[in-house]
Amino acid sequence: MTMVGRARLVGAGVNRVDGPMKVTGAAHYPNDVSFPNLAHAALVRSTISAGRVRRLDTGAALSAPGVLTVITHENAPSLDPAQDTFLSAPPPPLQGDRILHYGQYLAVVVADTAEQATAAAGLISAEYERAEPVTDMEDPRAEWIDDPWGADTRRGDARAALATADVTFEATYTTAENTNNPLGLFATVAAWDGDTLTVHDATQWPTSLRTALSRVFRIPEGAVRVLAPYVGGGFGAGLRPWPHVMLAALAARMVHRPVKLVLTRPEMFTGIGHRPATVQHVAIGATRDGRLVAIDHDSVSTLQMEGDNLEMCAAGTAAAYACPNVSTRDRQVRLNIPWVNSMRAPGEAQGNFALESAMDELSYALGVDPLDLRLRNYAENHPGLGLPWSSKALRECFEVGAELFGWSRRSPRPGTTRDGDWLVGYGLAGISYFWYQAPCQARATVRKDGTAWVRSAVTDIGTGTYTVMTQLSAELLGLDLERVTFDLGDTDLPPGAQAGGSGLTAALGSAVHAACRNLLRAVLETVAHDPTSPLAGCGVDEVTVSGGRIHRIGTPGRGESYADILAAHGLTELTADGASTPADPQELGLAPAGPFGARFVEVRIDPDLGLLRVARVVSVIDAGRILNEKTATSQIVGGTVGGIGMAMFEETVTDADTGRIANATFGDYLIPVNADIPDMEVVFVGEPDRFNPIGVKGVGEIGLVGMAAAIANAVHHATGRRIRSLPITIDQLL
Ligand code: MOS
Repeated sequence: MTMVGRARLVGAGVNRVDGPMKVTGAAHYPNDVSFPNLAHAALVRSTISAGRVRRLDTGAALSAPGVLTVITHENAPSLDPAQDTFLSAPPPPLQGDRILHYGQYLAVVVADTAEQATAAAGLISAEYERAEPVTDMEDPRAEWIDDPWGADTRRGDARAALATADVTFEATYTTAENTNNPLGLFATVAAWDGDTLTVHDATQWPTSLRTALSRVFRIPEGAVRVLAPYVGGGFGAGLRPWPHVMLAALAARMVHRPVKLVLTRPEMFTGIGHRPATVQHVAIGATRDGRLVAIDHDSVSTLQMEGDNLEMCAAGTAAAYACPNVSTRDRQVRLNIPWVNSMRAPGEAQGNFALESAMDELSYALGVDPLDLRLRNYAENHPGLGLPWSSKALRECFEVGAELFGWSRRSPRPGTTRDGDWLVGYGLAGISYFWYQAPCQARATVRKDGTAWVRSAVTDIGTGTYTVMTQLSAELLGLDLERVTFDLGDTDLPPGAQAGGSGLTAALGSAVHAACRNLLRAVLETVAHDPTSPLAGCGVDEVTVSGGRIHRIGTPGRGESYADILAAHGLTELTADGASTPADPQELGLAPAGPFGARFVEVRIDPDLGLLRVARVVSVIDAGRILNEKTATSQIVGGTVGGIGMAMFEETVTDADTGRIANATFGDYLIPVNADIPDMEVVFVGEPDRFNPIGVKGVGEIGLVGMAAAIANAVHHATGRRIRSLPITIDQLL
């Protein structure tokens, strides 16, 4: 019962199953949750980025109307640290007077209404003992961390090969800090019932948040329930158990009422992570005919003062091209800045900009077409492991994209194509994304009315998880879509993987595959010794499913419906669990492949005004089997918009003297709007991947990657000017 080759419900662009709920307002996001006796919390944040709180004056706030309590480090109970995942957990808040970043929480005010809480929070004043913050990578006091994750790579001898290469090129590229801006403000509603805690939260990882809260409040995991059926976007911001979530739960415990805490937009800039800045140095060597002989990629990224951030910027370069001598180094510098954190395609977004810009620059040094240079150095096998990829259609991405885009029309000489006052440029970038998959569990039930209920404690952050898992479950059980319900976002369900790292569809889909297969086995066991059943004695591999029936492969007439089987055996329902863990590459003899892609971009530049417009984007993506072309296309389109933001607009500005975020509003922090977004064509190519039973790879993050390099490369082609610093701003173009 694998579904490869005979998919009926999978692949088609079915509409989102949760669409009607969302457009009618019936879908309850965390900040829609209410209780009759709900209290509201507001935060007080540090206005300095280094030092200590000497005194907090809470008197006026405490006597303000409606205020129930004010919690500071002076009266907060001690809280335990949460567990680290692949991302370290921020320390529990209000545990001391030390300040490490601007926006760190100093107090939480709880009141009858949100307005009262906010007004009272404004009455709290702080006296500080200031220290001089470290806000600049160049600051000699800054602590540097080498090889933070043991992920640095060394293949051959890049330095030696560079010294003897026919042609070498090297340059430094920088990328700005960016901030995740999901439209849904992060919100938490926490309620205690005795020693049992229920939390509604905008998390991307309910299972991990439950563990975190149980540790922080020293209660069993079974005493915590996290609910996140709808999340208003995340882009990575919801992967950690943030201090505001702990504060909402703490406040609810202290006032003996449910408490709601909704972050303001400025608080979103300091409280839920942001993409670190990078300074990257890339050196490449090649033979005269364009064969790479060496790549050396060094990246330094910013980091907050405590805890880690998994953000491999250089490491991805090691598997991008067939090149015998490669060395990659990632380093971090600790600064007095709010926590950095995953933001869609963490590491790869920045690393790809440096590598794919450098490849473009090398192509000019060699006089080789940028597309040819990439194809000449195509990695047929995984360059590090030496194993064949579990799937790879990057060559097809380049070829299909070039054809659709009209790459061959490109004039080889920069600055020579014009359309009226506009300079026209073509640029491209290749993408070899990371592979990632976490363990995941799921549960499947079939009921005597012939409907099925499948579920797991994951989230759908807008990617389409509800929809594709409904399709997949229906396909695997042989039911119509309308007869299958997929539930998620509740830790009472089997533990799920995070909606992150572009790994959820593979992890959850594989768990759903296992659960559905186990369920079918359980149904067949029910009739195993039933002489009246045409399925008696059948194993799961001898049957197929469709139209609510199980029948013997090759003899559609010999079968029975789920409903009949359950009725005949007096059962109301049957349930089975399934779990997935990533396969072992050595055992399979395959290198696990992430998604691949190629981006082709046309830009137009008005050289007199420094105006830059993206005119066209063609994205060709190999993400293995596509479960739903409509939602997958939306992922790539959304990611492309994010990539245009990173390339041309987004920059989180930290005031060097104070560590304050200077542009923490939608008025000041630029994100692309509709007028900035061109025609976007998205095409999927490739075959089902061989690393998981359903053949999928991730589409969540790759949509952002490659845009920055493709745009910068197109800008160079249009103008002859090479921009090595993101975002690309008007002053760089004048
Ligand atoms: Mo993603 S940055 O792992 O949501």
